[in-house]
Amino acid sequence: MKERIKNLMKRKPWLLNLIAWVHNFLRYNNSWKYRRRQTIKFSGAFLKKCRFDVNGTNNSIIIGSKARLNNCKFIIIGNGCKIVIGGGSTIISDTVFWCEDENSTIIIGDDFTMEGGHIATTEGESIVIGNDCMFSGGIDIRNGDSHSIMDLASKKRINRAKPVQIGDHVWLAAYVRILKGANIPSNVIIGNSSVVSTALEKENAIYAGMPAKLVKESIYWERERFT
Ligand SMILES: CC(C)(COP(=O)(O)OP(=O)(O)OC[C@H]1O[C@@H](n2cnc3c(N)ncnc32)[C@H](O)[C@@H]1OP(=O)(O)O)[C@@H](O)C(=O)NCCC(=O)NCCS
Repeated sequence: MKERIKNLMKRKPWLLNLIAWVHNFLRYNNSWKYRRRQTIKFSGAFLKKCRFDVNGTNNSIIIGSKARLNNCKFIIIGNGCKIVIGGGSTIISDTVFWCEDENSTIIIGDDFTMEGGHIATTEGESIVIGNDCMFSGGIDIRNGDSHSIMDLASKKRINRAKPVQIGDHVWLAAYVRILKGANIPSNVIIGNSSVVSTALEKENAIYAGMPAKLVKESIYWERERFT
């Protein structure tokens, strides 16, 4: 039965969009408030208990078809900001997406799962996450510090935001924190409660600790738990 419904959806994408529209209508979200001044598109995606709070102009939030989001918040305070979340088997719950300032972006690939946390971009910088990533709960990702640190002599700011880049098929274990300038290669695992604030070098590796250091190499990981 499930297979038959799946095949039907493949043959008739408008049916998926219709079912998603009814689902989203019944599980009221407030995106309609922003229809005139912002771009918010989630055709074919399923949103439950999601809220939008978008201030400024020319901002966009685009969520891919078949993505399922539960209890997520999208907060934008700025102009030209962009949040793009891929579809497919994407499932996200209890997550806040936060964009501030001019042209700050969060771009996430397809088949993404996340069990909760906070992804925040500021100062026109980006957070880019590849395809098929698996993030646990209690995750905090930010590309800026929100406040200024100044050099005593020059009085110049020394803590500008820096982009965050996460490759494909990256697993963040629970309570991982990713800070400005972090770059995580594909097929990497970041261990529970670790902090990443620099560019890590190796693919197919485990990094853990505070700050995260290489603890294992030549590994790959699967979502399925084999016996
Ligand atoms: C990252 C992880 C998956 C690695 O598991 P593993 O390959 O079996 O790793 P090991 O237990 O063999 O540990 C390897 C080394 O890394 C260290 N290490 C592992 N996790 C660590 C962590 N979170 N912080 C600091 N060091 C850590 C170990 O102490 C060990 O050090 P040693 O070689 O000096 O003895 C696991 O440590 C982890 O974080 N599990 C929690 C997963 C989770 O949060 N799941 C939630 C649902 S997604």
